[in-house]
Amino acid sequence: MIKCQKHLFNLDDDEYYLNCAYKSPLLKKGELLAINAIKKERTPSYLKPNNYFEISEEIRKEFSKIIKSKKDEVAIMPSSSYGFANIFNNINSNGNKAIVVENEFPSGYFSVKKWCSKNNIQLEVVERDKLSAKEWNKKIINSIDSNTSLVLISSIHWMNGTKFDLKEIGEKCKANGTYFIVDGTQSVGAMSMDVKDFKIDALICAGYKWLFGPYSMALGYFSSKFSDGIPIEESWMNRTNAQDFSNLTEYDSKYKPMAGRYNVGETTNFILSPIMLNGLNQINSWGINNIESYCKKLSEIVINELSPLGIAFENENYFTSHLFSLGLPDHLNLLSFKNILEEKKIRVSVRGTNLRVSINVFNDEKDINKLVETVKEFI
Ligand SMILES: Cc1ncc(COP(=O)(O)O)c(C=O)c1O
Repeated sequence: MIKCQKHLFNLDDDEYYLNCAYKSPLLKKGELLAINAIKKERTPSYLKPNNYFEISEEIRKEFSKIIKSKKDEVAIMPSSSYGFANIFNNINSNGNKAIVVENEFPSGYFSVKKWCSKNNIQLEVVERDKLSAKEWNKKIINSIDSNTSLVLISSIHWMNGTKFDLKEIGEKCKANGTYFIVDGTQSVGAMSMDVKDFKIDALICAGYKWLFGPYSMALGYFSSKFSDGIPIEESWMNRTNAQDFSNLTEYDSKYKPMAGRYNVGETTNFILSPIMLNGLNQINSWGINNIESYCKKLSEIVINELSPLGIAFENENYFTSHLFSLGLPDHLNLLSFKNILEEKKIRVSVRGTNLRVSINVFNDEKDINKLVETVKEFI
């Protein structure tokens, strides 16, 4: 297993940053690469035509390793909402309902809602009520039938980390001719993802959390169902002759193969791309399994120390080690507790009724013990 990787970051010593689900800290190397990239902007003559494409291709390749797809099935975008816009631009309704789960992230929720209104489709929100995670997953699976056009779901619940049975949901979708669209923002990079095994049709991930990328860059997977689709914008870069700068007005009607057509215009952001590529390289060199076991080791300390005191955690089969919620007793005020944590520079998030803790390889036992100690004092 890997050791703590804090030395690769510039986090302040007195910060207990348990908030990677909010935004990842910048890797030291990413910072240097971005500074160098800015310096290069002083004199654009260094830029050769291939520089407009090369780093983007590397980003697509490194991300494809993480999600177990092909490079050409990956697109580079500025946000998850941009990815959803491309997806929904290319789905024809073949049923009368679409499914999301309760409290889906707004970028996905509003994208589905808009598509449903446009196509006169009913939007079914599968509520958890008081169900266990297992029963909730069953309810989601049971709600998919031959009238379901699509399911949009986050790979884990973004507010509290509850796991979804992606493989079973994917199989049920496939059997019913239902599109399976996944927002992987809060798990891809920290937990294994296999788009083929889960039969995912499209996967979108914002880059600035578990992928150690910059803000304003997202990555997506588009299955063969989208290979002949129409992108929401017409960028010259997405045409097959784009590399040939002197002949761009020999207008080429062909898009780049597969997901290449969904790359955002000006795909290669010269300053942000090095940060993104470095984040992906770093993840691939740590290895997802190592990241998972590292977070498991730290989260187990929290569970072992706090469950005897009445703090509730998700059932172990549906618990995510890198992102979870501390179920405080009802009489305790969440926001007051969050303020106490803030005063001590323990960074977590409140999302709905959840006190969301999220950890990664830059955290150590000192961070975890500080949190545990403070919870113990508070309760
Ligand atoms: C599940 C999930 N999806 C997407 C995003 C970001 O959305 P966007 O890229 O549209 O800003 C977040 C941010 O917190 C998120 O938690």
